[in-house]
This record gives sequence, structure tokens and C-alpha cells, in this order.
Amino acid sequence: MAAARRPAAPARPPAPAAVLCGVGGWVPPREVTNAELSRRLDTSDEWIRSRTGIRERRMINPGEATSDLAVEAGRLALKSSGEADADAVVLATTTPDRPCPGTAPEVAHRLGLTGAAAFDVSAVCTGFLYALAAGQGLIAAGTARRVLVIAADAFTTIIDPADRGTAVIFADGAGAVVLRAGGPDEPGALGRVVLGSDGERAELIQVPAGGSRQRSTGRPAPARDHYFQMRGRETFRQAVGHMSAASRAAVADAGWRLADVDRVVAHQANARILAAVADELELAEDRLLSNIAHVGNTGGASIPLLLAQAQEGLPSVSGGRLAAGDRLLLTAFGAGLAWGATALLWPDLPG
Ligand code: COA
Repeated sequence: MAAARRPAAPARPPAPAAVLCGVGGWVPPREVTNAELSRRLDTSDEWIRSRTGIRERRMINPGEATSDLAVEAGRLALKSSGEADADAVVLATTTPDRPCPGTAPEVAHRLGLTGAAAFDVSAVCTGFLYALAAGQGLIAAGTARRVLVIAADAFTTIIDPADRGTAVIFADGAGAVVLRAGGPDEPGALGRVVLGSDGERAELIQVPAGGSRQRSTGRPAPARDHYFQMRGRETFRQAVGHMSAASRAAVADAGWRLADVDRVVAHQANARILAAVADELELAEDRLLSNIAHVGNTGGASIPLLLAQAQEGLPSVSGGRLAAGDRLLLTAFGAGLAWGATALLWPDLPG
């Protein structure tokens, strides 16, 4: 008896590349200076500037939430892309509006994208790069043709206001990009996003309470356990090592040498970490773009916010304005531990 013929696998065209075609950033208007923090904490403008590079940061008002930041950044990114539509919204955040459900569906709805696929990504300060990889995957799989990738954090809502080690660093903001299906050789096409993690060191940076291990029971959690906690000095060393290694891998993957990189857009954790990464990679510090002096550490939002402000040519960005054709290296590190990097040719965007 002849064997039954199996149907052949359907012929599929090559997977499309994800091409960055829009960018937007948003910070809340309320500015908090080092002088203001020094009035209520045992710290000083001099300590904060010299140890972190931060002069001021932005903070949401009571009653505002992460989705408010995300919607503003998302709207600006869609506008920059020239189209108001997207069929997926990926939101990276550490400070969702509530533990359940995710914040992305509400953000999509408020942007007029009701019906789009929408979900949150939790990878703290590396959240934008993880979300970017997720968006790239949706496009490659054919699940979406246009993806709005947003990273938004309202870190001041989980910071212990009495902890001078974190309260002077972390701040609120949002950034977003639009990805569209396109070809791998177009400017803005994403290459591989290099990603990694080390959960053995999860306790270096954490919010211990409020999840399934240390549950919200209605009784108060042990003091400070609902706040964000960080062992700064050990984290510092990990940050430099992992961002440098991921950067090397991303640049090699793009077929570049480190010397080819025009601009480094690194997670704005601390100006000294940025300098140490540049030193480790033997890149001149003038290739680093930075806005940490004026916005602080905005968590996952920091890379897309910096991209948006550098695209706009804001004077608060050191290192200059982004230009079409710039070879960009993006890299981030944060809680998890988690890290990542990717390289791309900056596209010609309006504005
Ligand atoms: N003002 C004044 N003194 C402060 C202070 C502040 N805001 N914060 C900490 N200090 C003190 C500490 O209490 C300590 O005092 P001691 O020596 O008497 O114990 C001293 O300054 C040094 O503390 P240390 O934590 O070693 O300082 P540091 O130079 O490492 O800087 C950070 C602290 C948090 C700025 C730095 O470690 C850092 O940026 N870490 C990594 C952040 C990061 O990458 N996070 C992950 C991604 S978001």
C-alpha cells in the first residue's frame, strides 16, 4: 500500500525586518532639583552631581500614573512615524498602574488603538530593549506590521523617600518608538537584540513585597519592603561589565568595529557608569549621548527618551543631535539582573 503523502509545509516568504520609523519622549513638567532633595535628605547638590551626574529630575504629581506618561510618549512616536495606527502595543514598565491587568491595553485604548495586541514587559531598566526584541519578533512572525514599543516608568512611586541612595537617582519619564515591517538593509532596520540575565543576583535590586512570595495580605508589610531597594556599589560593577560585553556582541553582530560607532545611547543609570563603559570599550566620551543631568535615571524609559530628545536636538542632551545615517549602539543594564544591546543605522525621521 502506498504511504499517504504528507502535505508539504506551506511556502513562506522571508521574515520581514523591523524598521524603526518614529520616536517620541515625554517627561512630566514638575522639576525636582538637588537643592530640594537636600532640604529633606542627608545629601548635597555636590554629592549628587559628583557621584551620579544628576542636577535635576522630573516627577509625576499625586493622582498621575505610568499610563499617563506612556500615552504622551506613544502619541508623539506615532506622530513622528507619520501614521496614527499600530496593530500591537508593547509596554515596558516596572511601575504598572496596578498589579493586574497589564497597563498596555489601557494605553492602546487611550491612543485610539482599541483591538490591537497589547501587553506589558517586565525587565526593569533593560525593559526597552526586551520590548524592542518582542516587537521585532511580532513583525518577523507576521503577527503585526506596525508595533508601538513604549517604555514608561514612574519610579518615584516606588522609591523610599527616606533612602538617599535611591531617591536622588530615580525619576519619572517615558519614551517610545514605532517599528514597521520592512527590509533588512533599510536605515532603521534592527539587527539582533543581544539579551541576557542573571537571576542569581536578583536581590541586588528589588522590591521585595507585593508579589506572590511576600504577598499583600491587607496587613502592613515589613517597613520598606514595598519600596525599591538597591545595593549600589555591587550593582555598579555588574553594570559596567555586562553593558560592555553586550555592546561588543551587538557591534560584532552588526559587522562593525567599535571604532565605527558614532553614538552610544546607553541606559542613563549614572554618569560614572557611562564613563566607565566608554573607557572599557575604548570609545571617546564625546560619542556618548546623555541627558541624565536633567532627567535622572528614568528606568526602562531612559533609552527611548534619550533617542527622542537627541532627535529633537534639545540643548539638555550632551553629545549633540542625532543625524540620519549615524551608527548607533544602544545598551542597558538593570534589575533581574538583565542586560542587552543592539546596533542600528539611525533613519531619516522628520523633526
Ligand atoms: N548623599 C550623600 N551620601 C550618600 C548618598 C547621598 N545621596 N547616597 C549614599 N551616600 C553615602 C553612603 O551612605 C556611603 O557612606 P559611608 O561610606 O559612610 O557608608 C557613601 O556615600 C558611599 O556609598 P556608595 O553606595 O558606595 O556610593 P557609590 O559611589 O557607589 O554611589 C550609587 C552610589 C547608587 C550612586 C552608585 O553605586 C550607583 O550608581 N550604582 C549603580 C546603579 C545602577 O547601575 N543601577 C542599575 C541600573 S538602574
